[in-house]
Amino acid sequence: MEPQASTSGPVAWTRKHLLGLEDLSAQEITAILDTADSFTEISARSRKKVPALQGRIVFNLFFENSTRTRTSFSLAAKRLSADTQDFTASSSSLSKGETFIDTARNIEAMGADLLVVRHATPGAPHLLSKHVDCSIINAGDGAHEHPTQGLLDLLTIRQAKGSFEGLTVALVGDISHSRVARSNIWGLTKLGARVILCGPPTLVPRSLQELGCEIAYNFDEILPQCDVVNVLRIQFERQAKGLFPSVSEYSQLYGMTQERVLKGKENLLVLAPGPINRGVELTPEVADGPNSAILNQVTNGLAVRMAVLYLLSGKMESKGTGTGGDAPANEKDA
Ligand code: NCD
Repeated sequence: MEPQASTSGPVAWTRKHLLGLEDLSAQEITAILDTADSFTEISARSRKKVPALQGRIVFNLFFENSTRTRTSFSLAAKRLSADTQDFTASSSSLSKGETFIDTARNIEAMGADLLVVRHATPGAPHLLSKHVDCSIINAGDGAHEHPTQGLLDLLTIRQAKGSFEGLTVALVGDISHSRVARSNIWGLTKLGARVILCGPPTLVPRSLQELGCEIAYNFDEILPQCDVVNVLRIQFERQAKGLFPSVSEYSQLYGMTQERVLKGKENLLVLAPGPINRGVELTPEVADGPNSAILNQVTNGLAVRMAVLYLLSGKMESKGTGTGGDAPANEKDA
């Protein structure tokens, strides 16, 4: 797949939902990253709150566990002065037989403007976007996409490396079961990076070549070419048993160790979406070492989610105010 030609120039934001990076153009992705950069500056101020989403209600609808993503969305919405509410599937009326769509419609009837949705079923946020008037953000749908994770990975890479042209990024690990992998693949290839998928053959399907990636099964062979290694977790909760012989053999062949960091380029950037399993996908020495940007990713996650909420807020349905909800540019700077 050819990277899209130009990534420069301002883009007028027209989307109501963020369902995946597959749908977005390189220009739209760049617009989100640029907006996130300006929110990074706001986060460094002593007064971090801006009124862009004042009066709006952001609902977190998480049907799967989450630490970083849910907290980060809540905090991002609060920094934009929205009211936030968490919905916890396990203590809801879903257990009494209420459907996913009915649950969302009831939440919408309480005045929600935007639903942040995580669900084990691929396409669940897309389905909701057809049944409710709220804006929808996909916070992870099965093994399909996790667009804000992809965007925060892109922001972290851009901050460290300046641009994507000429950059080689390896996604290492359980590619088959990873929504983070898919969002990274779409984002990185659209912005012009070379992407190598690496891991055991049972976890790295050759079919992903069609998305414009290279496939490798020997990590040590490709390592010297990499500028960035994004270490993905073995998603035991999504895989059938027996996809590789043992965890310790996996760590030997694909684990990011200090020895491997030293074999890589001098400024090799190591990313991991978290949760990290110390000693499996990467060693504590690497996770806490100078090449790791794992905590920068978490910080950038907040800025990216503020940027997405802010951009979508201009396209949210008007809930009886007749204003259409656009936040004037100067409000952002208040
Ligand atoms: C990822 C997820 O849930 O998809 N984590 C995250 O959102 N930070 C990756 C994972 O669970 O390994």
